[in-house]
Amino acid sequence: LPYFAAALFGGYLLGSIPFGLIFTRLAGLGDIRQIGSGNIGATNALRTGNRWVAAATLIGDGAKGAVAVLLAARFGPDTAVLAAVGAFLGHLFPVWLKFKGGKGISTFIGLLLALYWPVGLLFCATWLAVAVVFRYSSLAALVAALATPAYLAWLDRWQLAEMSLLLVVLIFIAHRENIGRLLRGEESRIGAKKTDG
Ligand code: G3P
Repeated sequence: LPYFAAALFGGYLLGSIPFGLIFTRLAGLGDIRQIGSGNIGATNALRTGNRWVAAATLIGDGAKGAVAVLLAARFGPDTAVLAAVGAFLGHLFPVWLKFKGGKGISTFIGLLLALYWPVGLLFCATWLAVAVVFRYSSLAALVAALATPAYLAWLDRWQLAEMSLLLVVLIFIAHRENIGRLLRGEESRIGAKKTDG
């Protein structure tokens, strides 16, 4: 039990590091929460116009999920899963930002790659396929997220499938404003200029 609690809490602390906020600020681009969608993730970091900051955010937010899992995995697979959930919750609800964090996609990719990399790659492939066709980051994330529990079940990783189901519900809740914008045809496309609406 102390291992489980430490994994959940340690994962939470790692996950709550807001790399998008830190990197945009370090790059002198201001507060990412005042830009675009106001989200602290890689998609919104790209709206600053600086691809390097966006890439660093993707990697940083992904790495914290992967690192949490890899550190906890030494104490067994259940501990690794709890660290993954902790990191994800930390990203969505960081205490430092009054619990107003990100939408979890980069961190989800990182923890999937660390827990069972084939499904991490399948997530990325699904995201890319949808993003190339429709050019909505949020739609790509939602489709890839929805497919993930199915991929895990298909590959007989039932415990991970159950865990991912919980995280996918949180992903959909975190994307509720994006879902509204998608339904109204108002979501911003990847690479769109601000004037494209
Ligand atoms: O998962 C996609 C999400 O990151 C979209 O971000 O800034 O368009 O709300 P944003």
